[in-house]
Amino acid sequence: MKNHRETFGSNFAVIMAMAGSAIGLGNIWRFPYIVGQYGGAAFIIVYLIASLLLALPIFYAETILGRASRSNTFQAMRTFAPKTLWRHVGFLTIISPILIMGFYGVVGGWSIQYLYKSLTFSFVRSTPDAIDYYFGSYISSDFTPLIGLSIFVAIMVFITLAGVKKGIERFTKPTLPILMILIIGIAIYSVSLPGAYKGVEYLIKPDFSKLTARGVAAALGQSFFSLSLGVGTILIYASYMKKEQNIFSSGLGTALFDVVFAIIAGFAIMPAVFASGLEPSAGPGLIFKTLPFIFNKIGQTLPLVSGIISIVFFFSIFIAALTSAISLLEVGVAYLSEETRLNRKFATIVVGGIIWFLGVLCSLSFGLLSDITIGGENIFGIFDHVCSNILMPLGGLLFTIFVGWKMPKSTVYEEFTNNSTKKFNIKLYPIVRFLMRYVAPIGIIAIWISIYL
Ligand code: PHE
Repeated sequence: MKNHRETFGSNFAVIMAMAGSAIGLGNIWRFPYIVGQYGGAAFIIVYLIASLLLALPIFYAETILGRASRSNTFQAMRTFAPKTLWRHVGFLTIISPILIMGFYGVVGGWSIQYLYKSLTFSFVRSTPDAIDYYFGSYISSDFTPLIGLSIFVAIMVFITLAGVKKGIERFTKPTLPILMILIIGIAIYSVSLPGAYKGVEYLIKPDFSKLTARGVAAALGQSFFSLSLGVGTILIYASYMKKEQNIFSSGLGTALFDVVFAIIAGFAIMPAVFASGLEPSAGPGLIFKTLPFIFNKIGQTLPLVSGIISIVFFFSIFIAALTSAISLLEVGVAYLSEETRLNRKFATIVVGGIIWFLGVLCSLSFGLLSDITIGGENIFGIFDHVCSNILMPLGGLLFTIFVGWKMPKSTVYEEFTNNSTKKFNIKLYPIVRFLMRYVAPIGIIAIWISIYL
């Protein structure tokens, strides 16, 4: 091996690290609010189709490219297509994760603030109206959200400084199951609230007349965002995979885990939205208004239990956000430390600094900089929209075209079937190849054409 890269210990560790990247604010924060903006069940159906037919094949394309090249995106492209324009695709995978982190870090900071409010038992003692009002006044208060943002970025940088195995692997293994159990518990409670059935109906009874071309594009964007695709994150994690690990099962495992998680989060939030009289289309603040409402409600009868659940819950959201953030940071760090003379530690600090600065801009766009808008969206919204609906599908498109059409066929086959040793993968290979070559690229382009033309 030309470079002595660290590797993940086991197949399970790969799934957990990839799921740690995939499961994050995208499932808990973004999924419920996007579902609410684009009309519920019909949107979810499109999201599921997009995940299976477009996102999953691209997940495989990234994994194959990452493990075959055992390197960052630039080097991967250079290995299989030397001296071509393909090497510039690498830039996209440096820019996109840093832009994503700009708004992601802000929401990570919100989760820290809400953890702090939980620790002081604020939600238990508050009233539903005050909880609703609090979110708006908090995010527009310029300085306070910057504290959470700064803590979030600092912790993320610190963990990355500890290195791949010690930092990431150790961190991601125990936290996801805890989060899963909590979110299931909250979903059960939420569904049992008076008036919740309307929210359940909203999630399971599709009304396709409400589905717009923008909604379809948003479903595509959500499936990419949620699975961490098109930005080189999965590619980089796959480059730390061992040769004997199974690409097919780790991809499917991660995707299933991710989609199920998002749906359960939908059931935790949406019924409570209807039960509390909130608007499903309330936007990025949706979970920060709904969850405290739930905790307040539980607190009417069981204040201590409610307080503890709210602490554990916001702590878990914070951890889920952190494991995703670490994977976003890793792309830029791996690039800078392997392609330039910067050492890994210094690269981490440089990328962390840029992310913090962009985060400040996004955070201030709810207050001081709220006048700066494009098409009605503030800086935060623009970052989110451009990354999720344009840059991530674009990255995914390029990866799948590269792996489907440019990379040596034999390498793709060897990677997917572990050198023809996995019978099941051999059988599935023609389908996956067809999805990578035709369905995924055509699907993405068709969706773009439908909204921009
Ligand atoms: N998938 C992560 C989430 O759902 C976000 C993410 C996007 C992480 C891209 C890495 C790369 O929160």
